[in-house]
Amino acid sequence: MQTKLSTLLNIDFPVIMAPMFLVSNEAMVTAGMNSGIAATFPSLNYRNEGELEKMLDALNAEKGKIRAKGTYGINLIVQKTNPLYEKHLKICVEKKVPFYITSLGSPKQVIEQARTYGAKVFCDVTNIEHAQKCYDLGCDGFIAVGQGAGGHAGPYTLQVLISSLNHHFPDKIVIAAGGIANGAGLLSVLTLGAAGASIGTRFIASTEATVSNEYKKAIVDSHMTDIVMTDKISGTPSTIINTPFAQKIGYKQNWLERMLSNNARTKKYFKMWVQISGMKKLEASIHPGTYKTLWIAGQSVELVDDILSCSEIIERLKKETKEAYQKMQALMN
Ligand SMILES: Cc1cc2nc3c(=O)[nH]c(=O)nc-3n(C[C@H](O)[C@H](O)[C@H](O)COP(=O)(O)O)c2cc1C
Repeated sequence: MQTKLSTLLNIDFPVIMAPMFLVSNEAMVTAGMNSGIAATFPSLNYRNEGELEKMLDALNAEKGKIRAKGTYGINLIVQKTNPLYEKHLKICVEKKVPFYITSLGSPKQVIEQARTYGAKVFCDVTNIEHAQKCYDLGCDGFIAVGQGAGGHAGPYTLQVLISSLNHHFPDKIVIAAGGIANGAGLLSVLTLGAAGASIGTRFIASTEATVSNEYKKAIVDSHMTDIVMTDKISGTPSTIINTPFAQKIGYKQNWLERMLSNNARTKKYFKMWVQISGMKKLEASIHPGTYKTLWIAGQSVELVDDILSCSEIIERLKKETKEAYQKMQALMN
């Protein structure tokens, strides 16, 4: 199945395995590439000295061997509060990462650096205002992050956001993110005018993910009603499973936290502190046997019923998309 996304990235099937903090790993990305999609990971999953370089060397070696047309990309949190941003960007450019997904800030530097060797840049956007800034800087396309997505979900439905992005920026590729976990979901966003889908939550329940079995089981057992938004992880609203621990710590910052994150003098350092302590809480949650569970997941948990290997998930998606297309054709006759 060819779309503008699969042509641009030279892949078989227009799906991105979305970057997931603490979840994405080498085995998942390699499996994604070998199944003909674009698999990604956040650079922040490799924070220790030398780790990111090693991961990129391994992926570049794997990319040279694979038979399917798959690729990999990296997610950079381009916020000023990410202390590793510039260091990671430099490493990625040296290793010639094929494409980038930027989130939470200005993609200016990433676009400039990617252009030096022809890499592509997609920017996470949740509204037209931010998309306009990315457009003006010359991005290749947008990841339209809609309601109910895992992580920093947007406030708008994909029906409205994709259509509006296509209307405002007809020359750019739009990729849909949020709530897509099966072939009908993928077909629906293609119908809306997206060139592909970025899928996260479904891949947490994969054999390759190195998170605890409790987390994977929670993805399988939870329903859309179990997903809530919290400010407690990064200061930006994020979707999590409504576990007893999440309820205990609450979902909203208190007045003092809000004041510190709005005050011009304290803002940067307070946000950094919130993010570092949020990262520590998330890190504790992926290990087995903890009751302190802060599990990021989107509303598509409703659609996930089993733990499969990444390649099984992708093969099923391909099959379901064809079936959904045939059903739609039958409906229209
Ligand atoms: C566990 C988890 C961690 C995530 N971490 C990141 C991240 O580090 N950077 C990022 O840009 N997006 C992150 N996301 C968002 C995904 O990249 C993607 O936009 C989202 O998963 C798509 O929605 P879906 O989960 O409904 O498929 C994360 C999502 C999940 C579920």
